[in-house]
Amino acid sequence: MTETAHLTETRSAYDAVAVDYAALVTAKLPELPLDRALLGAFAELVRAAGGPVADLGCGPGHVTAHLAALGVEAFGLDLSPRMVALARRAYPGLRFEVGSMTGLDLPDGRLGGVLSWWSIVHTPRELLPRVFAEFQRVLAPGGHALLGFHGGDDEHVRRDQAYGHRVALDVHFARPDGIAGLLAEAGLVVTASMWAAPEQGRRRPSAYLFARKPG
Ligand SMILES: C[S@@+](CC[C@H](N)C(=O)[O-])C[C@H]1O[C@@H](n2cnc3c(N)ncnc32)[C@H](O)[C@@H]1O
Repeated sequence: MTETAHLTETRSAYDAVAVDYAALVTAKLPELPLDRALLGAFAELVRAAGGPVADLGCGPGHVTAHLAALGVEAFGLDLSPRMVALARRAYPGLRFEVGSMTGLDLPDGRLGGVLSWWSIVHTPRELLPRVFAEFQRVLAPGGHALLGFHGGDDEHVRRDQAYGHRVALDVHFARPDGIAGLLAEAGLVVTASMWAAPEQGRRRPSAYLFARKPG
């Protein structure tokens, strides 16, 4: 099957920015109390559900490591081989694989949780149903999903610079209710939705959704 252009572009952009992106975001998590609180709630939910948690679009792996430090059996997956290489080097005790959320090389119904932390932001809206169908497929009954993404009206911007590098990359913004509707269509039950004003260096609002696979 031929790969969609957005995957080729996104991989190549994150391969280019990987080192600078990793330095920036790894230092930022301690400055984001709201993010850490929501990740803490997710950790509690998935520990109770049992089963491993996939951090899909894990980037340099710092959030995977954060979940692991909270007692979650977490592993990471990312489109960008350079991101995965950085994550493996930084967290040698954890598992990181190259792959795409649009077609996960994971069995049906085994995961206690799926985290998508600012990783759907490069996926065109029309492809999100395919991504969320994968979340639904790989989650065990009773498993949880947590999504964080750029809040905004449904729009995207085309970037030619990121983290000091020339890139070609679309960044998508979305309203939580729109994404919640797509999760529901995929068979997930949305349990919480949140909208946060820009904080600590984020220029846009942040949106967060918790969802659960029935069962
Ligand atoms: C904005 S970064 C977020 C990284 C990390 N989750 C964080 O919070 O810093 C987006 C990441 O998602 C990855 N990504 C984008 N589309 C993906 C896809 N279809 N499958 C897997 N990873 C993807 C990119 O390679 C990049 O590492």
